[in-house]
Amino acid sequence: MIIEPRMRGFICLTAHPKGCEQSVKNQIEYIQSKGKIDGAKRVLVIGASTGFGLASRIASAFGSDAATIGVFFEKPPTEGKTASPGWYNSAAFEKEAANAGLYAKSINGDAFSNEIKQQTIDLIKADLGQIDLVIYSLASPVRLHPTTGVLHRSVLKPIGQTFTNNTVDFHSGKVSEITIEPCSGYDIENTVVVMGGEDWSMWIDALKQNNLLAEGSTTVAYSYIGSSLTEAVYRNGTIGRAKDHLEATAFSIKDSLKSINGNAFVSVNKALVTQASSAIPVIPLYISLLYKIMKAKGTHEGCIEQIQRLYQQRLFTGSTVPVDEKGRIRIDDWELDAEVQNEVSRLWAIATTDNLLEIGDLEGYRKDFYNLFGFGFEGVDYLADTNEMVNVDSIK
Ligand code: NAD
Ligand code: NA
Repeated sequence: MIIEPRMRGFICLTAHPKGCEQSVKNQIEYIQSKGKIDGAKRVLVIGASTGFGLASRIASAFGSDAATIGVFFEKPPTEGKTASPGWYNSAAFEKEAANAGLYAKSINGDAFSNEIKQQTIDLIKADLGQIDLVIYSLASPVRLHPTTGVLHRSVLKPIGQTFTNNTVDFHSGKVSEITIEPCSGYDIENTVVVMGGEDWSMWIDALKQNNLLAEGSTTVAYSYIGSSLTEAVYRNGTIGRAKDHLEATAFSIKDSLKSINGNAFVSVNKALVTQASSAIPVIPLYISLLYKIMKAKGTHEGCIEQIQRLYQQRLFTGSTVPVDEKGRIRIDDWELDAEVQNEVSRLWAIATTDNLLEIGDLEGYRKDFYNLFGFGFEGVDYLADTNEMVNVDSIK
């Protein structure tokens, strides 16, 4: 069948298996071009199928020859419907890993559940014995709490006051003002339950109790800070409270890993186009201005460049991991560079539907968005009949 992008609002309903494969291959090639990383050898990535998690899995496997187990929640293909991009990405990753003689297995299901944790524990016991690095890279709008059975939903809202600012519909390029009402009720609590650190520590506890964390092992979760332009809706909003909680959790996990000389970090990453970030109001306008400026400066990075730098220049340098005054690893340094931020603010003030194509990188935004679903890659024949990958033995 010939697969085309089918958009509904901010999501794409289809994904291209060959394009997703190309995306994975490009990321592998990038990692290989940067040379070997003296990193962890047995790696568990929770949220391994797209974005920063997929990049982490690729960087471990193809930078450090690591055996990887990936956990994610993706839709396999069904009759007449394509799989979700993360499923194709993972199928392609496993194929490439197998070709390279690297161990790679995946577990597809709800990482918040006890069942998927148990399945992962059983797989580690059977195949790898212990884990040296746990990457926690989940992004989810909901969490079914495994002990209470309550379904929590996260929200992206400001706290305390109504927020009005510009945003862009990146499909049409229309810049307009939007107003977001402040959160109410249990919005903050729910967002913290979904995107805070509780599940991360549940994973680490479960692994530790089963003696599956190797001496000196490390765990890393990803956070975001961003600029003053987005802080009302991001870092000072409901999601920011969840990130505060995640960052605080790094310290309690670090304490709990003392007995095995382990370590826990949060890495603050750069703003990038992912399925999650496209749905956050204001962020697409910020990203399109940011990309333009960072590309001109030569400091633009995607997920794979970010994680390559995280591994090679922060985590696995052979000496102490550099952190900020709050104990966080920072790879958002180039995004938050004063010159870059001043320029974003200057352009933000004058951005309109008429000039955004010129002063911002709408093209780049759209390309990255299509790329998420496997569309728009060079070297892929999108007019060719695609026979889908339907069965991958190593994805359970
Ligand atoms: P993403 O949407 O690309 O990836 C999310 C991953 O989580 C996927 O592998 C998905 O399958 C998995 N997942 C979601 N719900 C799941 C569930 N219930 N069970 C198992 N797996 C599940 O997101 P991303 O942008 O790579 O975000 C990863 C982390 O990085 C998040 O903590 C995010 O806040 C952070 N981060 C993102 C940005 C950004 O701009 N995108 C910037 C800095 C930090
Ligand atoms: Na991810």
